[in-house]
Amino acid sequence: MAPVRDPNTLSNYDQWRTRHITANLKVDFTDKCLRGSVVLELESQTDKASSEIILDSSYVSVSSIKLNSTPSQWEVKARTGPNGSPVHVSVPNGAGKGEVVKLEIELATTEKCTALQWLTPAQTSNKKAPFMFSQCQAIHARSIFPCQDTPDVKSTYDFHIRSPYVVVASGVPVPDATEAAGEDKVYKFEQKVPIPAYLFALASGDIASARIGRCSSVATGPNELKASQWELQDDMDKFLDAAEKIVFPYQWGEYNVLVLPPSFPYGGMENPIFTFATPTIISGDRQNIDVIAHELAHSWSGNLVTSCSWEHFWLNEGWTVYLERRILAAVHKNDAYFDFSAIIGWKHLEEAIEEFGADHEYTKLCISHKGIDPDDAFSTVPYEKGFHFVYSLDRLVGRENFDKFIPHYFGKWKNKSLDSYDFKDTFLEFFGAPEYAGLKDKLAEIDWEGRFFNTGLPPKPEFDTSLVDVCFQLANKWKQKDFSPSQSDTSSWTGNQVLVFLNVVQGFEEPLTVEQSQTMGKVYGLADSQNVELKSAYYQIAMKAKDTDSYPRVAELLGDVGRMKFVRTLFRTLNKVDRELAVKTFEKNRDFYHPICRMMVEKDLGLAEEKSA
Ligand code: BES
Ligand code: ZN
Repeated sequence: MAPVRDPNTLSNYDQWRTRHITANLKVDFTDKCLRGSVVLELESQTDKASSEIILDSSYVSVSSIKLNSTPSQWEVKARTGPNGSPVHVSVPNGAGKGEVVKLEIELATTEKCTALQWLTPAQTSNKKAPFMFSQCQAIHARSIFPCQDTPDVKSTYDFHIRSPYVVVASGVPVPDATEAAGEDKVYKFEQKVPIPAYLFALASGDIASARIGRCSSVATGPNELKASQWELQDDMDKFLDAAEKIVFPYQWGEYNVLVLPPSFPYGGMENPIFTFATPTIISGDRQNIDVIAHELAHSWSGNLVTSCSWEHFWLNEGWTVYLERRILAAVHKNDAYFDFSAIIGWKHLEEAIEEFGADHEYTKLCISHKGIDPDDAFSTVPYEKGFHFVYSLDRLVGRENFDKFIPHYFGKWKNKSLDSYDFKDTFLEFFGAPEYAGLKDKLAEIDWEGRFFNTGLPPKPEFDTSLVDVCFQLANKWKQKDFSPSQSDTSSWTGNQVLVFLNVVQGFEEPLTVEQSQTMGKVYGLADSQNVELKSAYYQIAMKAKDTDSYPRVAELLGDVGRMKFVRTLFRTLNKVDRELAVKTFEKNRDFYHPICRMMVEKDLGLAEEKSA
């Protein structure tokens, strides 16, 4: 029996594998919990008649477990670090290989659930109804229900979700003929493509929807619907066409986007059928929808073909960033867009590696996760180092050849999970074919071990700098203290070009003066921008310039957005220039932030240690 490959699960998935999950849950807005039963169908993998099923759980309250409809012997064991509390269920007579048992688990989520956020009506934009949503990646599904919470196990799903408000889930909606009596309706969804537990997703609240493409709708609060539709409707089908042309046809039926309230902690989350997205992409200028190209690309890389543990996370994210950049270049009919995005990514990679230190474990492509919470190891490294690895292979074999490999790879691993060595084998096997004999020497040169396990920056490729040169030129002008800027410096630029410019200025050895920084904010319309990406990059500059007028405005912004990318970086800098304000702002907005974000900022500000000391 192969040993368990994922260090972030306590489940014995080498002995049992989940084949199907039925979630019968009620969304209880009064008690702020999900309650009901979850039925796991597990298939025995061994002839040795395994007599125990071990599942992952974290802060979930289990009241009973039935094994094949009969009450069973079970125990929730003590927590062991970030992996949570394993649930042991005994299977007295064991089960032979291939035999399927049913576990029916009665449960309720608890206040400590890390996957769910509950918003009161007052915390929503139209103040009419409460709202709840889940975020399960990486290992938070186990805090909703006991499960084999590893990306190495995939199963199909049925969702039966009772709620007084509209429900969205990571499955295709099934029309319900039997309208439920009483106030609550049961919303049904099915997911026939096997998915890992981290892609289980739910949201419920006052949600309306509108069409944005041939198989796509956007769903969001009624007040936000028109703006969200406008932001996405022009590009949705273009993204889909481009992606299908690069890989192969979309496999999931619908592709929809749910735009969440501002506390959503990520830019986007690739939940199947319904990508969850931050409202910061609805900036009124269509400048931040790269996030949707990215989440859509996950429909192949990540959701269809999945890394088998968080140690090989780059297989999800690196590949997705590569596909995202290919999609952007295809949609703009200009390869410079690929390089432009890659240049921005390279800068972020340099910053991340500098922040960790160039020999830190977390700067490796494959990061050891033994005893580690994946949320702690999360950074831009697997994204950008992963991208650079995929892109280096693309250049090595040539675009025409690589384009043949892409559908082969995704076809071969479709509905499965793999590790970095499986990827290596697939690549070498494909290009080992006689027609690629000319590539033999090049392939032999690939330093696979070095690519997987070297710390620090990977080799830097040559980029097409045609879209960034203007940004660098403008940044250089700002090095002169007497430069007088005008609105036209940036008015014809894309949002990402302004962002590159701001990034360069952020990196100046000598910060801007307070006066310069304030001028920049006014003249380029950054301080009041609707585009949070630009606004937060600008505030980094303002804080580094010690513009104390900007501090309260940063604090205000920190009460408006909960996307960790902005919140964590703004807090880190605010903490350096005004710790008292940083701590005060965090305490004030504690309930606004999603539990994951709250935990991470607590760690970043050093409040987590103070608490436990
Ligand atoms: N899958 C990630 C988000 C994620 C990663 C959640 C790890 C939890 C743990 C998603 O696809 C993502 O990468 N989002 C980015 C979007 C960006 C790269 C375009 C984000 O949230 O910023
Ligand atoms: Zn991603």
